[in-house]
Amino acid sequence: MTISAHELSDAIVPNSTRSEQLYQRARKVMPGGNSRTAVFTTPYPVYVRSGQGARVVDVDGNERLDFLNNSTALIHGHAHPRIVEVMAQAAARGMSFGMPTEVEVTFAEALCGRNETFEHVRFTSTGTEAVMMAVQAARAYTLRPKIAKIAGAYHGAYDTVAINNDGSGSLITHATQGIPDGVSHNTVVIPFNDPEGALAVLRRHADELACVLIDPVPWRIGLVPASGDYLTALRSFCDETGTVLISDEVGSFRIGWHGAMSRLGSAADITVLGKVIAGGMPIGAVAGRRTVMAVFDPSSGSPALPHSGSYNANPVSMSAGLGSLELLTRKETQRINDLGESVRRHMAHILAARTEGWTVNGVGSLFRVLGPAVTDASGQRMNLVNLLSRALLRRGVHIGDSGLGCVSTAMGPDEVDSYARAFEGAVADVVAAQR
Ligand SMILES: Cc1ncc(COP(=O)(O)O)c(C=O)c1O
Repeated sequence: MTISAHELSDAIVPNSTRSEQLYQRARKVMPGGNSRTAVFTTPYPVYVRSGQGARVVDVDGNERLDFLNNSTALIHGHAHPRIVEVMAQAAARGMSFGMPTEVEVTFAEALCGRNETFEHVRFTSTGTEAVMMAVQAARAYTLRPKIAKIAGAYHGAYDTVAINNDGSGSLITHATQGIPDGVSHNTVVIPFNDPEGALAVLRRHADELACVLIDPVPWRIGLVPASGDYLTALRSFCDETGTVLISDEVGSFRIGWHGAMSRLGSAADITVLGKVIAGGMPIGAVAGRRTVMAVFDPSSGSPALPHSGSYNANPVSMSAGLGSLELLTRKETQRINDLGESVRRHMAHILAARTEGWTVNGVGSLFRVLGPAVTDASGQRMNLVNLLSRALLRRGVHIGDSGLGCVSTAMGPDEVDSYARAFEGAVADVVAAQR
């Protein structure tokens, strides 16, 4: 099979008539037919009908292996029977209340049992919101205005962190359009895995910094883990200056049973959680040291940081979360980390044999394939990883357009073998399409 670059980039997949029709309807009622930038592809996205375990079926009836798992949120794959059961039971008791429920206490106990730095926990509905509350908690605790973040790293759709988040890693501060100068002025960027470079920036702003916000395995800048030296430098800076170290583990918590920082040999003051902790339901959580978390405490009068939300600690999400954590045993964490290692080994082997300038990164059950950008015959810049993800889609496997993927507990060696075969074919498609 020989496919041109044009076919790979523009035709998406054969047999996608219903997806195209849905997209035409969507364009009439949503900007660009879209409600989530990350799931947009040209000329139109493939719409999904259902998912079960490791597989999804699109609206035209095509079945695929899902190695994206909703941007790594679905650690147990789709519609895990235990999670569906506990959610259905919770929903039957009532979807949400203007009162706290027992399950939020039980789920908070389960989370606090995972890491000794999770002394207290607070729930939100998304990772974005949890990052927002963690940053506000650091500001309320230190009474300082600025935050430091890693150049290029993504932390959700909150203006203070939607600055220099495009993966480029350049140290120039640039923001999503329309963010006021007053906001971007208070966000400083530090280089990744460069302890001296980061400390030079941090020292310049030390008196004004509320927090250093990091993702210990920042997927957008390549999914390479933070080095021990880097984490030690940031930890020491925060200890010396009373700055709050926030670890955003919305994506990376899954790499270890105690989370990412623990696996990498460090500890945060506040950890931001999301995605896997609720097995696919909307969730976010801020977990950390009592001293900092006390800014939320309303029990002795108005808290330093009042934080309400109609869906905070929603009982259906809490129940899904409890089900998800119960299934995510130490043994299962190790098993999918080993499968992740095996996927990366297969990919590295295929890329080394057939390509130049490609790499695969990752840790635990996460992977990201990175390839070179090229200019096509018409002078357009083309991202080859994007072409690769389209070629995989045609061959029955779904990963992210950015090359991001992960293993779920619904997978085993058979799924890894199928993935490796599809990957080998897709790499051959991309190589052929370039000729
Ligand atoms: C590191 C990180 N932080 C925050 C977020 C935002 O989480 P959510 O999509 O639940 O708002 C994401 C989402 O991909 C993420 O990867």
